[in-house]
Amino acid sequence: MKKITAFIGSAHKKNTHEAVLQFINNLQALGDVEYEIVTLSNYNLRPCRGCRLCFEKGEEFCPLKDDRDVLLEKIDASDGVIFASPNYSWQMSGIMKTFLDRLGFICHRPRYFGKAFTGIVTQGFSGGDKIVDYFDFLANFLGFNTVKGVSVTALDPRTEKDQRKIDRALERLSRRFYARLVKPAYPVPSLFMLMGFRMGRATIKEKLDDSSQDYRYYADKGWFESDYYYSTDLGPLKKVAGKLFEKIAPAIREMIA
Ligand SMILES: Cc1cc2nc3c(=O)[nH]c(=O)nc-3n(C[C@H](O)[C@H](O)[C@H](O)COP(=O)(O)O)c2cc1C
Repeated sequence: MKKITAFIGSAHKKNTHEAVLQFINNLQALGDVEYEIVTLSNYNLRPCRGCRLCFEKGEEFCPLKDDRDVLLEKIDASDGVIFASPNYSWQMSGIMKTFLDRLGFICHRPRYFGKAFTGIVTQGFSGGDKIVDYFDFLANFLGFNTVKGVSVTALDPRTEKDQRKIDRALERLSRRFYARLVKPAYPVPSLFMLMGFRMGRATIKEKLDDSSQDYRYYADKGWFESDYYYSTDLGPLKKVAGKLFEKIAPAIREMIA
């Protein structure tokens, strides 16, 4: 039995909820999957104040008293996670962004290795693909095994052709996500992810010390010595690439600053 949780950034129980339910029905036709739907607007989520205490001292020092940790426990208890949002004004909904800002410290101290992730966006006409790309990008940095999500156009009234397009997109996504959900879940990282890890740790080593929570997290996990976040066989080429990324980290930082 696999457990999945869908976090939905729409208070309106219509297109996004329907797409997520259809996706989940497809998954359940493929195997033993239990699920929870979390409608973010039913939870108390406060906007991040940007104090950086979570980065520097630890997430337990966040001054906001809201449902962040209730939601994080739901991720912890899941094998797979879905972020789903309508496209509002060419972006994800505000409540979804508020939620993701509350997870900012996990980009610094990733933890969702071994869990599958995908994104679902519904839109009226355009712009959803960029939101999907953002979900995928963020999820990689949180540590998830990301399955590229989909944006579906869900205009009402819908023609049969529109509906068939949605059905096909969700069907394909379900198959890909299910495969990731049941597969051994610690893949060899892409060059991009390897670069993120090596450059990130080079920066932490150079700029921080053990008064910082990020530094202590890396030290506790053994990440200052390891090839990657988790044990994996990089192979000779990626081993060399990893060393190179670490070496050129200061120059790249300089370039993008
Ligand atoms: C305030 C608002 C802004 C929207 N902005 C866009 C937009 O920029 N681009 C787009 O393609 N659709 C836009 N839409 C349409 C929604 O993305 C689309 O209808 C979506 O499926 C709604 O999902 P829901 O039923 O879960 O709320 C907007 C809808 C609303 C209510």
